[in-house]
Amino acid sequence: MTAQKVLQLSDLTQDTAVRVEVDGVAIAVVLDGQGEVHAIGDTCTHGDISLADGFVEGDSLECWAHGSAFSLRTGRPLNLPAYEPVPVYEVTIDGDDILIDPAVTKAVN
Ligand code: FES
Repeated sequence: MTAQKVLQLSDLTQDTAVRVEVDGVAIAVVLDGQGEVHAIGDTCTHGDISLADGFVEGDSLECWAHGSAFSLRTGRPLNLPAYEPVPVYEVTIDGDDILIDPAVTKAVN
């Protein structure tokens, strides 16, 4: 599988998540306050909730349902009730294009 164009930088608003689907994989894409683009699994590991409907806080994305915040860098939940991480995807920026390969996840340390 290869990286696919999912959005353009101009589609993103700082500190707001956008849900995209790439080959059936739901991914939340976030432009953080530092101008860095992140891509993590969109489905909360506590329930079937889209994280993109939640809130960006610094470098985490908080699920609106019960408040677990997931690190945009590691995918790890920073607080309960979720305790399983979401995947973190490699993001490639090519000009204004944002490319993501849904088969490639960063190692979670
Ligand atoms: S469904 Fe996300 S914290 Fe409960």
